[in-house]
Amino acid sequence: MIYADNAATTMLSKTALNAMLPYLEKNFGNASSLYAFGQKSKEALEESRETMAKNLGCRADEIYFTSGGSESDNQAIITAARLGEKNNKKHIISTAFEHHAVLHTLENLKKQGFEITLLDVHSNGIVSASQVRDAIRDDTCLVTVMYANNEIGTIQPISEIGNVCREKGVIFHTDAVQAAGHLKINVKEQNIDMLSLSAHKFNGPKGAGVLYVKKGIRPENLIFGGAQEHGKRAGTENVPAIVGMASAFNENCNNIESNSAKTAELRDRLIEGLEKIPYSELNGDRHNRLPGNVSFCFEGIEGESLLLLLDDKGICASSGSACTSGSLDPSHVLLAIGRPHEVAHGSLRLTIDDKFSEKDIDTIIESVTDVIERLRNMSPFWRDLVNGKRPHVFEKRR
Ligand SMILES: Cc1ncc(COP(=O)(O)O)c(C=O)c1O
Repeated sequence: MIYADNAATTMLSKTALNAMLPYLEKNFGNASSLYAFGQKSKEALEESRETMAKNLGCRADEIYFTSGGSESDNQAIITAARLGEKNNKKHIISTAFEHHAVLHTLENLKKQGFEITLLDVHSNGIVSASQVRDAIRDDTCLVTVMYANNEIGTIQPISEIGNVCREKGVIFHTDAVQAAGHLKINVKEQNIDMLSLSAHKFNGPKGAGVLYVKKGIRPENLIFGGAQEHGKRAGTENVPAIVGMASAFNENCNNIESNSAKTAELRDRLIEGLEKIPYSELNGDRHNRLPGNVSFCFEGIEGESLLLLLDDKGICASSGSACTSGSLDPSHVLLAIGRPHEVAHGSLRLTIDDKFSEKDIDTIIESVTDVIERLRNMSPFWRDLVNGKRPHVFEKRR
């Protein structure tokens, strides 16, 4: 099997697993218990907090452990919204291609009387700091822009947006779920006030995440109860998962440059191979993208059929289309970068890591090329394109 869906989730690293095992087996104490056995878990928790903080460039008491990216996004946005409300500021700026953890939270706030501006995304999958600057108003309480997009992998100018927000005195949150552990992040240098990350996207376990909140901003509780996480997130801490997250994050951050250079080289080989398929186009900027992300649209193809046939060949990939979630709408991300509906349906996302070999990449290229040819040969839609009954969207190029 070739697992090329690392944006969906990643394999737990051996280092993370080994770090977790003692807390799953013998050190199972509750971190809130006062006896020494419980305090072992507390120590592990606080060490993990230090590790996360060191690798994000912040203080340990600015790190809040959560269940993952969705919870962190919700808590960050609701924190800024409630603060804004108190100051009569009910305008929030975000982008049209955020993850649903952000978009759906914003939709909910809209029902509560907030005004939401979703910035357009350029066709290269990037939002500019000047767009953010132009959209900020006196009543803006939050700018939330993702660090890197989960479908097309494009990296946003986070430091520049951070500068604009700092200058204008507006809270800046970034959903860094796809970036953390893959790109260098320093929240202080980049003027980030709140940041979300999720362990399972960087070889940590599922069900653990972090919300970084700059000192001075009081996080709003989503979960009430015990006094865990400075009283801001109740519930017995998932110590094994948190320890695993910190261990995986530390390992990834220590190797970030070499891993990303190797992954980017493989990514470029994959892009070059897939570009040879006629009437295909890469989604998003060619260079300013996550080292492991390759996202394509192919004319005359249904993304779901492509995925199923690739699965038959032992390749795990993903499509931008939302059909699997019960909707026939194409991906909001692909529509946001201006892909027409019929092309957005024919998308493929392959997300790789540094463990791939050149042979794996070549197998993927060969398999995708073969499956696309087979699907096109069966497609009446493709026949219409070939017969000139419908116009092509992309260049033939080959
Ligand atoms: C950009 C982005 N934000 C948020 C999430 C949600 O993270 P989690 O699965 O940890 O809740 C994801 C997961 O795919 C993501 O890619």
